[in-house]
Amino acid sequence: MTPKLPLPFSGAQGNISEKTLAIHHDKLYVGYVDKKDEISEKLKALSHGGDVSAANQSYSELRALKDGETFAVNGTYLHEWYFENLGGDGKPMDKIASALADKYGSMENFLKYFAACGMAARGWVVLAWDTHDKALKIYNGDAHNQGGVWGAIPLLVLDVYEHAYFIDFGSDRKTYIQEFINHINWSVVEQRYLAAI
Ligand SMILES: [Fe+2]
Repeated sequence: MTPKLPLPFSGAQGNISEKTLAIHHDKLYVGYVDKKDEISEKLKALSHGGDVSAANQSYSELRALKDGETFAVNGTYLHEWYFENLGGDGKPMDKIASALADKYGSMENFLKYFAACGMAARGWVVLAWDTHDKALKIYNGDAHNQGGVWGAIPLLVLDVYEHAYFIDFGSDRKTYIQEFINHINWSVVEQRYLAAI
């Protein structure tokens, strides 16, 4: 069983309400963890001598499970990273702040570009350490299992699905992204960056 991580902070994050965060964590995130485990159990049976003779790329039980596997696993991981890097004071710190200023010319440039990437995505924006290029990159995903780059280690994760903001901001995603930026926990991002490099 995959452990379900609790929210690492309590209460609203500015105008991102406690209600939104509770639904997002307790219903949606928990749902992905449960599906991850359910799919894992079914794949375990198939991978331990089960009947896989009908495997097929148009439709088969194995295809449906493998597609669901990456959706549920990434849905679990991305939400954990998202909640972990929320709950701070939004003040960039130490080595990650210098690295972002070096890469983008200034922290202001990075934040402006990161926010714009959030307007251009349908699901996720991920600041990552790309182990292939050995560089900071921002990658967008339109679904949990679309847009991710293998070998890229997530450092800062932003959820731009409507469920993350519609209760509090209606269709005003731009204000939600700014509120997210105002409450980034940069010490978490710093720790991830140091571990990644
Ligand atoms: Fe979400």
